[in-house]
Amino acid sequence: MAHPVHRPRRLRRSAALRDMVRETRLSPTDFIYPLFVVEGRDVRRPISSMPGIFNLSLEHAVKEAKLAKSLGVPSVILFGIPDHKDARGTQAYATDGIVQRAIREIKAAEPDLQVIADVCLCEYTDHGHCGVLDGNHVANDATLPLLAQMAVTCAQAGADIIAPSDMMDGRIGAIRKALDEVKHQDTPIMAYSAKYASGFYGPFREAAQSTPQFGDRRGYQMDPGNVREAIRETALDVDEGADFIMVKPALSYLDVIRALRENFDLPLAAYNVSGEYAMLKAAGQNGWVDYERVMLEVLTSIKRAGADLVITYHALEAAKLL
Ligand code: PBG
Repeated sequence: MAHPVHRPRRLRRSAALRDMVRETRLSPTDFIYPLFVVEGRDVRRPISSMPGIFNLSLEHAVKEAKLAKSLGVPSVILFGIPDHKDARGTQAYATDGIVQRAIREIKAAEPDLQVIADVCLCEYTDHGHCGVLDGNHVANDATLPLLAQMAVTCAQAGADIIAPSDMMDGRIGAIRKALDEVKHQDTPIMAYSAKYASGFYGPFREAAQSTPQFGDRRGYQMDPGNVREAIRETALDVDEGADFIMVKPALSYLDVIRALRENFDLPLAAYNVSGEYAMLKAAGQNGWVDYERVMLEVLTSIKRAGADLVITYHALEAAKLL
């Protein structure tokens, strides 16, 4: 019955035909571009494990944000790296902290660019954990007001979206309530809802100087073997008021992206993380893969799995090609 009546190759015969029947398309509007903002002036310090990505002082961050916008990338996500770190991550929620200043300057320079504030304490604590400590334990409930305060100061600085990446229980609800109380009821929350304890964050920790000084993050981030738990975690975030949901990392978790797509109808983001970027860069620089080709293939796979948005360090390179 099948062959010779059915010949799938008919639709693959020309570039024009293949283009007509392509199910998944990439566009610069799919991308969110991460920026690492540091104190000081005229700093543009390369991150060795992430070729092409830099620690940027404010004026350079503004320039990079403008470049993103000019390439059609509608959004950036900001990570602040303060000079002064302490046990309670004070600089995370200071009104004149590095990330709050970056939000103000980028919004002033490029009002239509959507600025997302990553909300977490790990770049701001001297111990490198995502919350405050009680002995060697990351204290969940004591961390919530600090995250809420960080969200409030970022929203007041002009952030368009608040993105909590800490994985404390109840943080979406606590942040929603705090935002509402200061009349930011219209500021959306992008919840890192299924965030795994992953080895693929290695290069980010170089970029953000946020490696835990003891232990690891397995006590709050998810176990890589679990997918039902991702659905449960995400349901809680949706219940507490999340406007976007997220899977992180992306590539080893395409099944999780698919599961969330099938279970929820909110916009779904996936974070194509630092280690995923570093692997492609390294293989490309060695001539082992065609970098641009595998980059577009990887980004397509994340969308095909079900993501609407991709947070990716490839954003500007990919936007130039599209
Ligand atoms: C936590 C945070 C991390 C990343 C984004 N937000 C690091 C972590 O959980 O250790 C990692 C992103 C990446 O690897 O690209 N603030």
